Amino acid sequence: MIPFNHLGWIFKTFGPVIYPQSVRVSLCDFLEPLKLHATVLDVGGGTGVMCEFAHTCRDDLNLTVVDPAEGMFKYAKTYVKTQKGSAEALPFEDNSFDILLMGEALHHFKDIEKALKETSRVLKKNGSLFIYDFDVNTFRGKSICTAEKLLGEPGNFFEPEALRILLESYGFSAGFKQHGWRYTMHAQLKR
Ligand SMILES: C[S@@+](CC[C@H](N)C(=O)[O-])C[C@H]1O[C@@H](n2cnc3c(N)ncnc32)[C@H](O)[C@@H]1O
Repeated sequence: MIPFNHLGWIFKTFGPVIYPQSVRVSLCDFLEPLKLHATVLDVGGGTGVMCEFAHTCRDDLNLTVVDPAEGMFKYAKTYVKTQKGSAEALPFEDNSFDILLMGEALHHFKDIEKALKETSRVLKKNGSLFIYDFDVNTFRGKSICTAEKLLGEPGNFFEPEALRILLESYGFSAGFKQHGWRYTMHAQLKR
């Protein structure tokens, strides 16, 4: 297992490098239509790096990170709320958030089915979901997947089209954008 609880400084230092500019632009485009003070939950958000990117384009947003590794939280900005918890059992009421973010986190979730059920439970009506992850159908994506599995991680990586179809089965309409060996998934609940 990767000891995320002790790796906050790495994610804080290298976060901006891991998220290429094109991904940050896609995130800002996705956030643009949200209403003022919309509620955002960053699942597996770690130090809140994705919330920081969100804040640069929409500083009105109400940002929360949920993550099992509390050690990451000491690096979070003061405008980001933090809550210990896992994607498979989100510690929030039904219909709590306008949007969920998952940045390089989905592949760490042990039970994707439970995590997606929880995602749609805590999202408000017509809520949206933004995922950023590595494409397992590329050489670099495959290599990272293999390395993570060797480290005892779940390695639940997807090809974007397979994830898009899976999200549709959970009531989302979804599309994706390829960023080289990475992708962003842009989905909206149809209820
Ligand atoms: C590669 S880090 C990414 C952190 C952050 N999103 C970023 O981009 O810097 C993966 C994160 O997923 C978290 N994580 C692992 N298993 C999880 C689970 N079951 N539910 C929610 N988060 C989880 C880890 O603790 C870690 O903070």
